[in-house]
Amino acid sequence: MSVTEQVRLKHEPIKDQIGSRILNSKDELLSGAVAGEIRELLEARGVLVFPEVKFTHEEQVAFTKTLGTFAPEMTDKDGDEKVHPITLDEKINPGSAAYLKGSLYWHIDGTMNERPILASLLSCEKPSPKGTGNTGFANTYSAYEALSDEQKAEFGGYKVRHGAWATLFYYDPEPNQEMLERMQAIGDVELPLVWSHKSGRKSLVIGNTAHTISGKSHFDSARILNWLRNWSTQEAFSYSHEWSVGDLVMWDNTGTMHRAEWYDVASGRMMVRTKLEGEEGIQ
Ligand code: OGA
Ligand code: MN
Repeated sequence: MSVTEQVRLKHEPIKDQIGSRILNSKDELLSGAVAGEIRELLEARGVLVFPEVKFTHEEQVAFTKTLGTFAPEMTDKDGDEKVHPITLDEKINPGSAAYLKGSLYWHIDGTMNERPILASLLSCEKPSPKGTGNTGFANTYSAYEALSDEQKAEFGGYKVRHGAWATLFYYDPEPNQEMLERMQAIGDVELPLVWSHKSGRKSLVIGNTAHTISGKSHFDSARILNWLRNWSTQEAFSYSHEWSVGDLVMWDNTGTMHRAEWYDVASGRMMVRTKLEGEEGIQ
């Protein structure tokens, strides 16, 4: 009698409170056999790194689909789903390069959406020179869990207003009126500061879309939100990924923040992204 050996996830931690490296082969990953374990580890560790896995665009789409519901951002001429190019180079990414400038500051993707995406998968086609263009991640589950009981009680009652327009001021402090109004037309929503996930875990919902704590002044809101960002992105809860060609990094967008670190647009840094549809609203 032959016993089929079951493929298991092979992984090792990167830091104590964030990040794991996945060591399975490309074929094992594409087979879907470890998809369930990847989903569990993603929630537990916030960020998963697949070093130099070198997926083709089609393989990245196929791999993403093994993990949940593919969130389409782009389709090709045949209507098939495809990867989304991520670069600040306006020539390559007309229209969206400007919006990506906000990604240089700590954020959660799609806080304005009813169900923010569950996860993003970013792979590196061309890194910028060493010391630039890393992607930083911060574990907002760990950041919440490390608060004192008093802070948890206080912050647990806060509601925070979020808008894409608030990100504009990070890179363009005196925007033209048309641009501001275009970004404000995207909307403005009130979200709990502390996300109580269906799993029972809790995380902080902050980042560059957060601008005002409901019922508090601009002065008090700025102080508290700034403190929360610094707290959440401290060394113990964060990880900065230095890219090699073919790396794929996946993050739990519901329990982490991320940002691109500065790079020269002329460096040609080029990443491609796929996303998984969100499975719960922020509540
Ligand atoms: C994103 C993003 C960061 C980067 O794709 O959502 O924020 O390092 N990317 O390019
Ligand atoms: Mn982002």
